Amino acid sequence: MIKLHDKYFKPFISAQEIDTAISKMANDIAADLGDEVPVFIGILNGSFMVVSDFVKKYPKPCEVTFIKLASYEGVKSNEDIQRLIGLTQDLTGRTVVILEDIIDTGNTLTEVHRIFKNEKVKSLIIATLFYKPEAYKKDYKLHYVGIEIPNKFIVGYGLDYDGLGRDIPEVYQIKTTQHMTNLVLFGPPGAGKGTQAEFLKEKYSLVHISTGDVFRFNIKNETALGMLAKSYMDKGELVPDEVTIKMLNAEVDKNADANGFIFDGFPRTDAQAEALEVLMESKDSSINAMIALEVDDEVLVGRLLERGKTSGRTDDADESIIRNRITEYYTKTAILKDYYSSQNKYFGVDGVGSIEDITVRLSAVIDKL
Ligand code: IMP
Ligand code: MG
Repeated sequence: MIKLHDKYFKPFISAQEIDTAISKMANDIAADLGDEVPVFIGILNGSFMVVSDFVKKYPKPCEVTFIKLASYEGVKSNEDIQRLIGLTQDLTGRTVVILEDIIDTGNTLTEVHRIFKNEKVKSLIIATLFYKPEAYKKDYKLHYVGIEIPNKFIVGYGLDYDGLGRDIPEVYQIKTTQHMTNLVLFGPPGAGKGTQAEFLKEKYSLVHISTGDVFRFNIKNETALGMLAKSYMDKGELVPDEVTIKMLNAEVDKNADANGFIFDGFPRTDAQAEALEVLMESKDSSINAMIALEVDDEVLVGRLLERGKTSGRTDDADESIIRNRITEYYTKTAILKDYYSSQNKYFGVDGVGSIEDITVRLSAVIDKL
């Protein structure tokens, strides 16, 4: 994913696919024109890359020139086409091939036809690398089309978004801000958080980011951030929030196409909750809810003691340790409960019952977000 100005774009058409499409157009046109020496006319600015690659592939003699028109403002086509540099040579009797980077509404093409109306060319042929059939509103014939694309804004390979992106060798498509569901999942030890996270991530196509797992992954793979985190841990210090946030940022970027995220184990403080919000805002998104599984202490103690019999986890075997962990959980999360409650984003869910019942309760909250 890339960001140009305020918008995000995702990879769409590779340099290889573009190359193949241009080769095909060059060969098709050469075959159709026979012995004619055509004048290829690029429409600046967007077509400079297509024209450059096209003429290198064109297997026969040809001439090349440019005219300069402008129509786009931001991501919207504009009816008002400006002619900035017109024709500078006599094209009487010549076979002219317009080489466009993209044909969208066809407004630019109308202007091209207007320019050629009084030129006594032998023929006017239109070739475009990209074509958006759903956006095209004219009926001028398009003789050669490289790749048909949906009606979504693209950048790269000569095409820009407010000046940026023309230099990129492949094509990116705008990422329409899909509604993301980002949850912070909480629950005291034994509440069934892990089990429920598994169900929710399947049901809503979310990516589960457990801070513990992210730390272990980065340290095990000796990433720069992992080593940095470890250097604090080795000194017995807490890993600074900014290091954790950078790791989470990398996880979010790795899953740019996700429907959303379930954060687990982070945030634990107000400052972390704010840092997480800043991170999500930088992705055009936000945290939608903190969902906490609520389970009565006595039920938790019973569940954990039961788990301790088979899990072999020493911290699940001793009742006073279990009670301490539960108390610690409530002390820590109380702060976050207040933080998210003040934004109307806190949802407590009854965590007692069958796994299915609890999933249904959680889904009811998520479906309403
Ligand atoms: P039309 O006049 O609407 O056919 O648009 C043609 C011109 O608008 C192109 O030559 C480009 O400069 C620009 N354009 C159209 N669609 C896009 C796009 O998806 N990305 C960037 N520029 C575009
Ligand atoms: Mg153009």
